[in-house]
Amino acid sequence: MRALVTGASGQLAHAIRQIWGEHDLILPEESVLDLGRQAAIQSVVADVRPDVVVNCGAFTQVDRCEAEAELASLINATAVGWLAEACEARKALLIQISTDYVFDGTGTRPYREEDPTNPVSVYGRTKLEGERQAARCSRHLIARTSWLYDAWGKNFLNTMLNAAAQGRALRVVDDQRGAPTTCRALARQLKVAAEEGWQGLVHTTCAGETTWHGFARAIFEAKGLSVDLNPCGTADYPTPAQRPAYSVLSGDRRRSLGPDLMPEWQDALREVIQQPAL
Ligand SMILES: NC(=O)c1ccc[n+]([C@@H]2O[C@H](COP(=O)([O-])OP(=O)(O)OC[C@H]3O[C@@H](n4cnc5c(N)ncnc54)[C@H](OP(=O)(O)O)[C@@H]3O)[C@@H](O)[C@H]2O)c1
Repeated sequence: MRALVTGASGQLAHAIRQIWGEHDLILPEESVLDLGRQAAIQSVVADVRPDVVVNCGAFTQVDRCEAEAELASLINATAVGWLAEACEARKALLIQISTDYVFDGTGTRPYREEDPTNPVSVYGRTKLEGERQAARCSRHLIARTSWLYDAWGKNFLNTMLNAAAQGRALRVVDDQRGAPTTCRALARQLKVAAEEGWQGLVHTTCAGETTWHGFARAIFEAKGLSVDLNPCGTADYPTPAQRPAYSVLSGDRRRSLGPDLMPEWQDALREVIQQPAL
């Protein structure tokens, strides 16, 4: 299988580079495959002739998206439409990575794929439009995930470890619930999904749920660090973008499709701490 991966410098693309090694992988840098340029997408897809395109590239800075809505829309939505057209022309499978932030967070049980969406941020709205654009390709898989992190990349784990290294007291929000998900677990699941040709919309997060504060506590426990960690509310920590208070995603549909490679979030965290490099 020949796979073209966008967003090569990002944390999920890095995991795919490590885990999909037995396949023919092409991960062009942004200078070659700039998602903001339709001509670049068309020519790279035509040159590479992929069987599958994994769109890991996105404007992921949720707060910046509020002020830069036009750019967010271009990268998270319009570019996905261009990828969908290019994949359609080649009959390639388009795997679009989407987000729990398509929901408003007022739910009280894990969200299923068919539940109504209602994003509360520019990021969430543009990613939802990206899902609609991806669905224009007749062979598409839209994998919604959440709270992505790993030993590498800009993410909550590394932010917490850097803060702890500075010896600072920390306040972390304890009223947003979700599922921390490792890039490596998602990359393993996506590999099987691509090999087996899964299609449609599928929720793909680690199992279980916690809050950001619970996640921080688990990180420090796993690292054996003693940190002055305190819970706070979302209202105490205002940000430009609103986040869903509850964004746990149900894995029922995924489990019905084939092998379930998404571990409990605590087991996934333990793996990252014990084996940072793949
Ligand atoms: N991170 C999360 O918690 C999370 C949760 C749910 C879903 N997701 C989704 O999962 C996917 C992977 O996210 P991630 O965590 O791996 O994000 P990431 O580390 O921020 O990677 C995204 C990559 O896309 C690149 N990019 C931005 N604009 C681009 C452009 N015009 N052309 C080509 N590449 C461009 C970024 O480069 P620069 O850094 O240079 O801008 C970055 O390397 C994304 O679709 C994201 O929306 C992420």
